[in-house]
Amino acid sequence: LGLLKPNKIRVNALKNLQVKCAHIEAKFYEEVHELERKYAALYQPLFDKRSDIVKAAYEPTDEECEWKADEEEELTEEMKEKAKLEEEKKDEEKEDPKGIPEFWLTVFKNVDLLSDMLQEHDEPILKHLQDIKVKFSDPGQPMSFTLEFHFEPNEFFTNAMLTKTYKMRSEPDENDPFSFDGPEIMCCTGCTIDWTKGKNVTLKTIKKKQKHKGRGTVRTVTKTVPNDSFFNFFTPPEVPENGELDEDSEAVLAADFEIGHFIRERIVPRAVLYFTGEAIEDDDDDYDEEGEEADDEVTSFSHS
Ligand SMILES: *[C@@H]1O[C@H](CO)[C@@H](O)[C@H](O)[C@H]1NC(C)=O
Ligand SMILES: *[C@@H]1O[C@H](CO)[C@@H](O)[C@H](O)[C@H]1NC(C)=O
Repeated sequence: LGLLKPNKIRVNALKNLQVKCAHIEAKFYEEVHELERKYAALYQPLFDKRSDIVKAAYEPTDEECEWKADEEEELTEEMKEKAKLEEEKKDEEKEDPKGIPEFWLTVFKNVDLLSDMLQEHDEPILKHLQDIKVKFSDPGQPMSFTLEFHFEPNEFFTNAMLTKTYKMRSEPDENDPFSFDGPEIMCCTGCTIDWTKGKNVTLKTIKKKQKHKGRGTVRTVTKTVPNDSFFNFFTPPEVPENGELDEDSEAVLAADFEIGHFIRERIVPRAVLYFTGEAIEDDDDDYDEEGEEADDEVTSFSHS
């Protein structure tokens, strides 16, 4: 653009102001993070109760089980009576399952982002998943959040909890301050899974034929190679010091950050609606034609 020189110089002054705005915005997002932490403590007792109901540590009362939509359904007295009799018959036929079996596995299966990672051999393991919690970093610490996956005792690994921590940065990039759009996930760390012998689904053994160079004899060797699994989520690629990543790792991480963000922002706060499927249509409304996220998001998760 052919700006006149004096204009150009003044525009520079405006840009400098804009950079200052970006730094104030960063402070704003830090306060948002503080607020989120404060409110997380208010939600937690409800999430704990949800978890207790799911894992059958607490049986909700009849009153707690009432839901207005059930009453709205227009049923004649006769139909109600019939339904009740059928319920009772069913109850007699099979034992009432404890809690809500496969609650989190069902959530995973209902959400495309998560079900894409899910392999058949992961499902029996995720049946033991009892809760997912979000823990925010302590005040004064670098901004981060940790997803805690709580498992009941199972035959696959000895960990009671698997964790994934996302480190964030809420600071305009010096080289590109105008792109600042809230906290960004910078990197993530998983945890070691203590697999029981023979249960490591992230590994598979393959048989390979090797030909002896000189003699031409063939022998079969077994090798262990990585296998597709949701549990690879706990061994994400590391971001090296210089920040340079190969294309594959870059893609894996971009997807990983999106998933971590989604679990924190959507899945954990509203798990029941993903279990029933009600939340899934809502999410579609948040995406425009290009599949871009609506810009009311507080946290961005693009990796730069
Ligand atoms: C590796 O993955 C395949 C296909 O996803 C699965 O059938 C197999 O059970 C896995 N191997 C192990 C050892 O879990
Ligand atoms: C499980 O497999 C992963 C590779 O996918 C490997 O890094 C890890 O050491 C294995 N763990 C055990 C306990 O065998």
